[in-house]
Amino acid sequence: MLPFFHWDCRCLALTKGLPQDTFMYPPDCTMNFVMFVLPLALWSGLRIIVGLTLAFCLMRQVRKPSRWLGRPFLWMMNKSHSALTDWGLQRLKVGKDFTVLDVGCGGGRTIQKLATMTNRKVYGADYAAGSVVESTAKNAELVATGRVAVVRASVSALPFCDSMFDLVTAIETQYYWPDLVNDMKEIRRVLKPGGTLLVIAEAYKYGGNARAHDALVKLLGKGCMSVTEHRELCAKAEYTDIEIREERKRGWICVMGRKAEA
Ligand SMILES: C[S@@+](CC[C@H](N)C(=O)[O-])C[C@H]1O[C@@H](n2cnc3c(N)ncnc32)[C@H](O)[C@@H]1O
Repeated sequence: MLPFFHWDCRCLALTKGLPQDTFMYPPDCTMNFVMFVLPLALWSGLRIIVGLTLAFCLMRQVRKPSRWLGRPFLWMMNKSHSALTDWGLQRLKVGKDFTVLDVGCGGGRTIQKLATMTNRKVYGADYAAGSVVESTAKNAELVATGRVAVVRASVSALPFCDSMFDLVTAIETQYYWPDLVNDMKEIRRVLKPGGTLLVIAEAYKYGGNARAHDALVKLLGKGCMSVTEHRELCAKAEYTDIEIREERKRGWICVMGRKAEA
């Protein structure tokens, strides 16, 4: 800003036929301030505000991708969450006869992976219109043959009957749920007795990238949870056989809980 200010002052002085440093020193400094510094400061401030607002709006697309703006974010998430998802899915055995639900399915890559692991139907649920469109497009052939279905729904009110699924997965989505205990209970409702919930996240409190992630996630919703908090949440939502795995270097966490056998 300062070089421009000097340059502007010199230009103004030249246009008025005055010595070049006329506007740099008192008694013209009040005029300099009003004419140059203040507008420049206001312009810079405005640019920062517009930039931050834009960044915040774009970041919100991660939380709830819209149909058009959300698209590039969903493509990016499909790519960037793939290794994390594989790591988490390796923690359990997906039976060929499993009916599976992926909650917060985003761009639909996890649905695609799950469909290669089971011969039964794989469902995706997401409350964002953009995610439903993108997941359906990503799995178009499987949707056409009836092996995959994607529905628009919140985790808080899943449109499925009780005891329907052998496995429910939730990847990089739990941070945004509005009512954690009840949302976890809602998932337990749709699980078969003995069925498993698998929560996978690339950040947790005390994990490798927790600080940066926690700050980011807090901007969008709730912050990250610690291992203990994850365990307590599962217990409150009445899951049994709770198992937690960490990949400390990468800050990844995988939480498994089972619905008790009837
Ligand atoms: C960061 S993206 C992760 C998407 C995908 N699971 C992945 O791993 O790439 C979070 C997703 O969770 C969805 N989501 C957030 N809150 C939700 C809620 N209350 N109910 C259903 N879906 C939700 C968002 O719409 C978004 O698609």
